[in-house]
Amino acid sequence: MKLFDVYPLMPVNIVKAENCKLWDENGTEYLDFYGGHAVISVGHTHPYYVEKIQNQLGQIGFYSNSVINKLQEELAEKLGKISGYEDYSLFLCNSGAEANENALKIASFKSGKKKFITFRNSFHGRTSAVVAATDDPSIVAPINETDNFIFCDWNNVDQCEKLFFENLHDLAGVIIEGIQGIGGIQIPTQELMDKISQLCKENNVFFISDEIQSGYARSGKFFAHQHFGVKPDIITTAKGMANGFPIGGVLVSPKIRAKHKMLGTTFGGNHLACAAAIAVLEIIEKENLIKESFEKGEYLIQKLKGISQIKEIRGKGLLIGVDFEIPASQVSKKLREEFKIFVGSATNPLTMRLLPPLTISYPEIDYFISSLKSVINSI
Ligand SMILES: Cc1ncc(COP(=O)(O)O)c(C=O)c1O
Repeated sequence: MKLFDVYPLMPVNIVKAENCKLWDENGTEYLDFYGGHAVISVGHTHPYYVEKIQNQLGQIGFYSNSVINKLQEELAEKLGKISGYEDYSLFLCNSGAEANENALKIASFKSGKKKFITFRNSFHGRTSAVVAATDDPSIVAPINETDNFIFCDWNNVDQCEKLFFENLHDLAGVIIEGIQGIGGIQIPTQELMDKISQLCKENNVFFISDEIQSGYARSGKFFAHQHFGVKPDIITTAKGMANGFPIGGVLVSPKIRAKHKMLGTTFGGNHLACAAAIAVLEIIEKENLIKESFEKGEYLIQKLKGISQIKEIRGKGLLIGVDFEIPASQVSKKLREEFKIFVGSATNPLTMRLLPPLTISYPEIDYFISSLKSVINSI
């Protein structure tokens, strides 16, 4: 059997990793400024993370959600503390798309309504409802087509308010990324976040923050929406949550009461996934990775500002978008082939995304910057 060919692949077979370094099958070393798509938060194969998973595997890897799992409770308690959402409750699942599907379901169940405002340039996943909430018709199959999602132009506060009231009779929620990721690291304005927060609060509509890419310390706060001082009713998380072990989570406001059978999953929150996710939170705390992400992001952005050929830089913490005058793929290819550095792409072909592990070092940032300068000067 061959693989179902859905991914345009880089011709590299990665077989080993340590912190921010990767090695291919020939032993060639690479620097990871991509984090496997913003997934690697605490660095590859962190010894504490590996030990926690190994120990858990020797105890029990999985059992059904029909019995008590104390690891889920420990994870919820730790996540509540570090994120500042101690009074919220946690539903665990397996991926980002699944977290968003469940967030939409909660809002729809609780409001009895079915429409959501979403934003242009957004990405919320590839499954049933969330792919329809994503602004990319090329990945929406006929079965996913629905008029339940109303698209608002990015950062257009007046349009957001207009669409909100036009659809209020049937509006369950507003879903927005803390910072748009695949869309090229687009930062919402304070005005937009304040308006969504106010409209939702005053009209009993659920405010959903998709923190799947922007959460877990990546932006220099635990969640990106915390840069704006707003408090969503539902927050979704995945990617950095277990450093590559599949897991997703939905943080739910205390004003939303759970009901048995409202949501459910076979694998979500299994023992092994919880052990990995607990290890990640402990490492984030012990190694001060929220602060580190903020400070290293500032440093990296300052260095990028010194490169005159860059058209625009957007970002917070280690979630950074860089626009060039030329296709970013030309720069990325040369970085990978000549300087052995992985970076990310974005919907806009002129944009490069930088998403290194939060443990990236200053010398590694300097190496990236000098390599980027050489590449740009050679094109
Ligand atoms: C903001 C955002 N939401 C949702 C998803 C979907 O997550 P997953 O690929 O784990 O389903 C992604 C993935 O890139 C994302 O960036």
